[in-house]
Amino acid sequence: MLVSAKEMLEKAKAGHYAVGQFNINNLEWTKSILQTAQEMNSPVILGVSEGAGKYMCGFKTIVGMVEGMIEGLGITVPVALHLDHGTYEGAYKCIEAGFSSIMFDGSHYPIEENIQKTRELVAVCAKKGLSLEAEVGAIGGEEDGVLGGGEVADPNECKMIADLGVTMLAAGIGNIHGKYPANWPGLRFDTLAAISDKVGQMPLVLHGGTGIPADMIKKAISLGVSKINVNTECQLAFQAATRQYIEEGKDLVGKGFDPRKLLAPGCEAIKATVREKIELFGSANKA
Ligand code: 13P
Repeated sequence: MLVSAKEMLEKAKAGHYAVGQFNINNLEWTKSILQTAQEMNSPVILGVSEGAGKYMCGFKTIVGMVEGMIEGLGITVPVALHLDHGTYEGAYKCIEAGFSSIMFDGSHYPIEENIQKTRELVAVCAKKGLSLEAEVGAIGGEEDGVLGGGEVADPNECKMIADLGVTMLAAGIGNIHGKYPANWPGLRFDTLAAISDKVGQMPLVLHGGTGIPADMIKKAISLGVSKINVNTECQLAFQAATRQYIEEGKDLVGKGFDPRKLLAPGCEAIKATVREKIELFGSANKA
């Protein structure tokens, strides 16, 4: 059964570790992430962007696939199915489809409008027992064609959104989706500390987990980050392993063309990436 992310994130905040959100793209991605979380006895959040939702034939298809897999694979660790960077309309579609967690990203609206829409969704999600993530200060880089300006959130605005009763809060602290450029100055720990002071026990979310050095991840967790999103890193791992399989000509040997063989090295690479992140985030054996 899918669960809200509330309890797992409150435990993570209290226990000074973070739960990974790993974005999914297809059956192989979902299976690899669920199996790794189970193997490591870790709670896990499956992230779905609206673009990935479309690709996988709609949110209902995804709910069916994930629920079926939890049963079919015998997954017993807590699993939240979470809309990533949802629009206002997308949030309602996922609530309807049976997601257990929603992100409403109103960071591109003026703060008053972000507050108004977030407040409405807090009430809807509370009634259904779903967790709700809100965002203040756009995350830099590109996510599914949406380009963020690399903003740094205003701690006072974070407090305003946190006070609405959201479950967790994403705040821009110089983090970027995708690969970090060589001249990236690093996370803004001064801002993160100021936000943490303002929002108290609210779990904070760090987007753009790909390529953030381990010491920065650990410091961010010590300053109140309890959920870390990783997407691109699994894609790069899958790509490199698939490329190697084909470059080595393995698809030309025997039944190497069988998709179950062709996609296997990529799946193993996703598993290795997820394993490494779960270790780093400290959520192993916290299920
Ligand atoms: P990366 O693709 O940089 O890992 O970011 C993932 C993310 O933040 C999803 O919301």
